[in-house]
Amino acid sequence: MDIYDFGKGLIVEAGSFIEKHMLESFHIDSKSNPNDLVTDVDKETENFIYNQILEHFPEHRIVGEEGHGEDINDDEGVIWIVDPIDGTLNFVHQAEHFAISIGVFIDGKPYCGLIYDCMKHDLYHAKFGEGAYLNDEPLHRAKNEPLNSSLIAVNPKRILGEATRDSFFNIMAESRSVRSYGSAALEFAMLAKGQISALLFFRLYPWDYAGGIILTNELGYISSDIYGASLPLFNSTSVISGNPKIHEEILQYFKDDKALHEYHDNFHNL
Ligand code: IPD
Ligand code: CA
Ligand code: CA
Repeated sequence: MDIYDFGKGLIVEAGSFIEKHMLESFHIDSKSNPNDLVTDVDKETENFIYNQILEHFPEHRIVGEEGHGEDINDDEGVIWIVDPIDGTLNFVHQAEHFAISIGVFIDGKPYCGLIYDCMKHDLYHAKFGEGAYLNDEPLHRAKNEPLNSSLIAVNPKRILGEATRDSFFNIMAESRSVRSYGSAALEFAMLAKGQISALLFFRLYPWDYAGGIILTNELGYISSDIYGASLPLFNSTSVISGNPKIHEEILQYFKDDKALHEYHDNFHNL
């Protein structure tokens, strides 16, 4: 079966799996810090996706936030990068506005991106070179809206420190206004819909952005780290995504911020 069609079916099925399990009581644990939560549902959904992929494509490899593929660090063959619930804090506190995110790469090249807004039943999907869609409707190409007339999205908790303050604060001050929705994957989906013009994260992992960059690249949006370099498949980094104009404008703010560069490179072990 075609990987893209299989992936679309799988992500919707995994969404039903989450909906069903959220009606039951679930266990919540913390990971790296008391605010970094994970539930049984995150883990079971990742297991479900993992097992389904291997049942259909035994030779494929899977990297998931909840532990699958931790030893994978080469990009040979077909690799699925999966976040079973992006926006776990929203899932726990709000029971909505979370998504499943999947990016599929073949020999390191983008193949397809899938983001499923589980409670709205909205599927964002794109196959490389074939356009991007929300359910059956084609999404429109990026407009070159500048920073001063744009809404941008950030994760505020990550940019409160001294090193990040100057550049990020100046960018936010120049924008029309700032939003924070708590799911990077859904922020990519909002970028794809043209509801925001850029998103800025000091730290994301490949499972947060793998699906989103394939979806938005297809519409002419650009994604990079704060230096303008392309995003890695196997470690965390900063993520700046937007239409070509705003992306370039934002990168200029980071260009000479040596303190930020040093902090960034230590933080990400570059
Ligand atoms: C988080 C969300 C959030 C972003 C965090 C991510 P998770 O993913 O994408 O928007 O700001 O950095 O960790 O933990 O809910 O899968
Ligand atoms: Ca995530
Ligand atoms: Ca997650």
